[in-house]
Amino acid sequence: MNNNLNNFNELGFVPIPSSIEKLDLDIVLTNNIKVLYDDNDKALKKICDYFEENFSRFGFKLSTNNEKNCTNVYFTINKDIIKKDESYTMKIDDNGMMLIGRDYRGIFYGVQTLLQLLETTRINNELKIPSMKIEDEPRFQWRGMMLDVGRHMMPLDFIKRCIDITASHKMNIFHWHLTEDQGWRIPIKNFPKLKSIAAFRKETLIGHYNDKPHKFDNSKYGGYYTIKQINEIIEYAKDRHITIIPEIEMPGHATAALSAYPELSCTGGPHESETVWGIHKEVYCAGNEDTFKFLEKVLEEVSKVFPGPYIHIGGDECPKDRWSECEKCQKRILSEKLKDENELQSYFIKRIEKVLLKFNKRLIGWDEILEGGLAPNAVVHSWRGMDGGIEAANAGHEVIMSPTTNVYFDYYQLKDSKNEPLAIGGYLPLSKVYDFEPIPEKIDKSKRHLILGGQANLWTEYIQTPEQAEYMLLPRLCALAETVWSQKDRKNYSSFEVRLSKHLQRLEQKKINYSKNYE
Ligand code: ACM
Ligand code: ZN
Repeated sequence: MNNNLNNFNELGFVPIPSSIEKLDLDIVLTNNIKVLYDDNDKALKKICDYFEENFSRFGFKLSTNNEKNCTNVYFTINKDIIKKDESYTMKIDDNGMMLIGRDYRGIFYGVQTLLQLLETTRINNELKIPSMKIEDEPRFQWRGMMLDVGRHMMPLDFIKRCIDITASHKMNIFHWHLTEDQGWRIPIKNFPKLKSIAAFRKETLIGHYNDKPHKFDNSKYGGYYTIKQINEIIEYAKDRHITIIPEIEMPGHATAALSAYPELSCTGGPHESETVWGIHKEVYCAGNEDTFKFLEKVLEEVSKVFPGPYIHIGGDECPKDRWSECEKCQKRILSEKLKDENELQSYFIKRIEKVLLKFNKRLIGWDEILEGGLAPNAVVHSWRGMDGGIEAANAGHEVIMSPTTNVYFDYYQLKDSKNEPLAIGGYLPLSKVYDFEPIPEKIDKSKRHLILGGQANLWTEYIQTPEQAEYMLLPRLCALAETVWSQKDRKNYSSFEVRLSKHLQRLEQKKINYSKNYE
């Protein structure tokens, strides 16, 4: 098999497929594309509709009758030929394009490859393409990106655009960070003040947190997504084979919720949604039964809205100041025979895990949930480097790798950041994202399968608009896609750079913003 990367770099596949074999001839595409599949299969029809919607933007037309001059594309599911979930093979020759998927997801990812091919021929202004056979499968089952809408709320159309961008890079998880100190973005029927009070803050910090004295814009900010809108997003994501992971933060990053229900804090309030960024001391009281009743009801409603198997409960950056001064929290430490406030946090998370299991959901938490003892079935989301993930995997837990060092897309992309739009800090160039390896050597060979995959995080303290969010996401997401989808031995930065230059032209055609000054 000819696996020579360079032969196909001009086609600009990102992420690179597992293998591309050149066949003998060149074939000529037509502007009319006829898609053939089992007419009774509604799921394949959906993929065909998606395919058409996307290729028609590049001037191709779906042919519905027997026009002679058309390119035939066949969609077939075959579990005997394709062994791995989400995988596909595609043969392009003078009979047309035969796409065989293990499952619908496999067909969908094959369609992404096809779309890239069609887009490139359009960009290069030619219709001739090499005849070839592609075999492709994902390296990881978790290929994610997170968007924080607590700090800055993004419009619904942009959430859809993020889902499109994620799916077109063969990624399958959209982690929706819905609650923060600065705003709560999902209505909960049982607690109406979450939408009337917690969804808003009275003003917002101007400039960087480190610029003192702080200045504010003196303008009320906020809002929330209605359940109808959330359902629309869930449907939209489903059609693109993306699972949405809602995040409801606890016990910290909860000031907005506590502004609405101050009785759930240790001091009883009053509190206000935060107007500055950072880590804040007001957290849910772990000694108050009402906290758990509140969170159980919240999680019950959230579980009913989101069909996916996971709920993210945050768990990061929970200062223990209030707990160490709170009578109720101290009583809980005594009655539960806990050693300290870290074990109280662990008690909190374990209790929430049981609640989620009742609703048939698995708990995901940031790596602080390791402190004081891990909840038995929790998935650990490692962000403060890889160590939390290594420890969790070696202890038999599933892990998602999101280290700040490689996938924090709120960091600057250029070393010389003075001409860059204001960002939180840090330095994460494209090449460093490309270097990301989710399975470090320190994980026991027998435990490596517990690394579900990797994920980029986009925190939005300094990101006010969709354009800015896209600028921070791209092209870094392209590099991440190659890490989480492509096989390790297929990665090669110089090949990626050539393919990326083609791929960026696609983004340009789709009017997606990206950083042109990557390094
Ligand atoms: C995080 O970045 N605080 C998870
Ligand atoms: Zn307390």
